[in-house]
Amino acid sequence: MLVNLKEILQIAQKEKNAVGMFNATGFDSLQAVVAAAEELNRPVILAHAEVHNQYNDIDMVGPAMLALARKASVPVCVHLDHGTSLEMVYRALRIGFTSVMIDASALPYEQNLAVTRSVTEIAHAVNVSVEAELGRLVTGEACSGEGLSGKAEDYYTDPAEAARFSEQTKIDALAVAFGTAHGFYAAQPKLDFSVVEKCAASTGLPLVMHGGSGVSEEGFHRAIESGIRKINYYSYMSKAGYLAAKNAIEKKGSGYLHDVEYAAMLAMKEDVKTAIKTFSQIKKSCLNTSM
Ligand code: CO
Ligand code: CO
Repeated sequence: MLVNLKEILQIAQKEKNAVGMFNATGFDSLQAVVAAAEELNRPVILAHAEVHNQYNDIDMVGPAMLALARKASVPVCVHLDHGTSLEMVYRALRIGFTSVMIDASALPYEQNLAVTRSVTEIAHAVNVSVEAELGRLVTGEACSGEGLSGKAEDYYTDPAEAARFSEQTKIDALAVAFGTAHGFYAAQPKLDFSVVEKCAASTGLPLVMHGGSGVSEEGFHRAIESGIRKINYYSYMSKAGYLAAKNAIEKKGSGYLHDVEYAAMLAMKEDVKTAIKTFSQIKKSCLNTSM
């Protein structure tokens, strides 16, 4: 069933765990994500990132995402990931997405505030949830070449600023910067969970972890225990599909593209299932341990 972000994150708040958000770049990943959630009987967030619009336009992939969400046996939120243009946000609203992320985090604070507030005013009028971002994930691929100086810590989310921002924008979820980055990690990232704890306390909002794939199981658990309720996961799911496709071509070589796509879909489904299981359960053995 189709739900909005606020509704799906209430489930996570109640269960004290996190809902996984997975990017669908095409029909293979779309199928993989929904099938994984249904097999595990867990809610899931299906996302289209503005940066992926070049592969499948939102006008094509969006209606397919919504159709699968409505038909699913589990709660599914259809979300715009990293909407950086108002144009894409409005297109998502028109198609029927139940959640949008307006990412104006590269703008100065006051402009981020103004843009985010204009989006929440419109989105909330049509029961669509809004995620925004404060702070910068500066070590990631997405932020490379931006010419930012200083250390990654300088761009972590400030809890007091987060409280003012959430109060004034009325957002439903906040993406925080605390050491994660987009893309593949060269080494295990160092995460500052105290930033998450302080932001959760100061805003009272469900918090979002970007750059989720590649973090250790213990890292996920500590993040969830600190207040993360939505985890964005994509790179390693895509890599699982990539490796399966490569293997299908090299080992079997049937000559049919559908065999390659199907192998990729199955591999992505298994990777998503592992991620959903990790985000859904907090093992007792992991509690009260430090990393
Ligand atoms: Co992200
Ligand atoms: Co743990």
